Amino acid sequence: MISQTLREARKYEDTMEAGITAEQRPEYHLSARVGWMNDPNGFSYYKGEYHLFYQYHPYDSVWGPMHWGHAVSRDLLHWEYLPAALAPDSAYDKDGCFSGSSVELPDGRQLLLYTGVVKQPQPDGGFKEVQTQCIAVGDGRDYEKYADNPILTEKDLPIGGSRHDFRDPKVWREEDGTYRCVVGNCTGDRDGKILLYKSKDGFRWEFVSVLAANNGRFGRMWECPDFFELDGKYVLITSPQDMMPKGFEYHNGNGTLCLIGSYDKETGRFMEETDQSIDYGIDFYAPQTILAPDGRRIMIGWMQNWDTCNLRDTERFWFGQMTLPRELSIENGRLIQKPVRELESLRGKAVRYENVAFADTIRLDGIHGRKIDMEIMVRPADPEKIFHKFAVRFAQDETYHTSVSFRPSESIVKVDRKYSGSRRAIIHQRRSHVDGKDGRLKLRIILDRFSAEVFLNDGEQVLTVTYYTDLSADGISFYVDGKAVMDVVKYDLV
Ligand code: FRU
Repeated sequence: MISQTLREARKYEDTMEAGITAEQRPEYHLSARVGWMNDPNGFSYYKGEYHLFYQYHPYDSVWGPMHWGHAVSRDLLHWEYLPAALAPDSAYDKDGCFSGSSVELPDGRQLLLYTGVVKQPQPDGGFKEVQTQCIAVGDGRDYEKYADNPILTEKDLPIGGSRHDFRDPKVWREEDGTYRCVVGNCTGDRDGKILLYKSKDGFRWEFVSVLAANNGRFGRMWECPDFFELDGKYVLITSPQDMMPKGFEYHNGNGTLCLIGSYDKETGRFMEETDQSIDYGIDFYAPQTILAPDGRRIMIGWMQNWDTCNLRDTERFWFGQMTLPRELSIENGRLIQKPVRELESLRGKAVRYENVAFADTIRLDGIHGRKIDMEIMVRPADPEKIFHKFAVRFAQDETYHTSVSFRPSESIVKVDRKYSGSRRAIIHQRRSHVDGKDGRLKLRIILDRFSAEVFLNDGEQVLTVTYYTDLSADGISFYVDGKAVMDVVKYDLV
């Protein structure tokens, strides 16, 4: 049975979607069908299709009572919208269906595990959210909420765990057929913890352990956890709120954290070895992964960040995009990210240049566009005289450009969207440390109308930014302070 609230949302999105043309959206990144999108939810492969749900407020392009939007894809790049999957229509989720995940049950049904939010009046006249974990089960199109919701509540919290911050369950099935999930939580003073729960049937859950605890190191509350095995290690990813920068890590306020280590299944303890940011750009948060049928661990994130949501284009009826899905691996103890290989099938004709020697600014015939996949290998013309700065400018015309620049002497790469048409004095730049002392750097820049994802040195770092520069600004130019040589290959994405 579909509730009135969900029926209305489905009707609304169906009607309003027609007002948005294909040109007003990214082409191969998922954007909100209409209204607002945040976190990816329920990312899964189910009955031959990839499913991606998302935090969704269809009625406005700002955050509001959370629904789950829904889309499916066969190649992770072309998404087809399906009717909204969940609406805040029950006593235990009336103020929002927050983030969650999904798993296939042995009987072929798909189980969605999500956070139900209820606002509780406070003595001072205000409200405080109480968060519980809830279930809905369906067939990949329609979902029915479980009669015994909520299935995890404050009574399932360890001592000191806050019921006001208890959210974003990520579920998986173990080899023995039982289920586990990790949930974000914090103590009363907002110090993040990741809780581990187990279940035999996916419906009845019990607390196992505190998988990991922040102890004041990385921000405060830890949102949107994910936990998986990768290349012989275990990886815990989470999105901490209120982070403080540490060297070149964690500059985003609401940031992302990747902890790599080992896992003791018996005790349910994770032993950390290393920590790093996941994306070093501006617009990235709340990533979630799946294990694809071919064994790849693929991650997708919200291509926005809470701190910079006021960079927006008021003419658009949608707000919020997902990143490209990225293949993950671990090399030398670090997380490596590469765009999914499916992207190569969208590559049109190549425009290729080799050994281009230049000083100052150059443009290259045939190198322009706002939907492109471009690889650049830059190196000093003379290894004894390394250039001071190299830059690529894109989404460019006489007035606008967004850029990626590289300073070998500092081993720093910077993205800068100051000149992208923004009239807001918000953060427009971000820097990352790279391996580039000898002046050699490999860049792969992927543009899709309103975003750039910059993969450095085969995925050692990624910097992601959005911008709403007029689409007529599609120029690309290269600049060097000193003398450099580069190879460039650009493909239009078609
Ligand atoms: C993260 C988050 C989640 C929550 C959701 C609400 O971006 O705050 O913790 O479930 O967004 O929309």
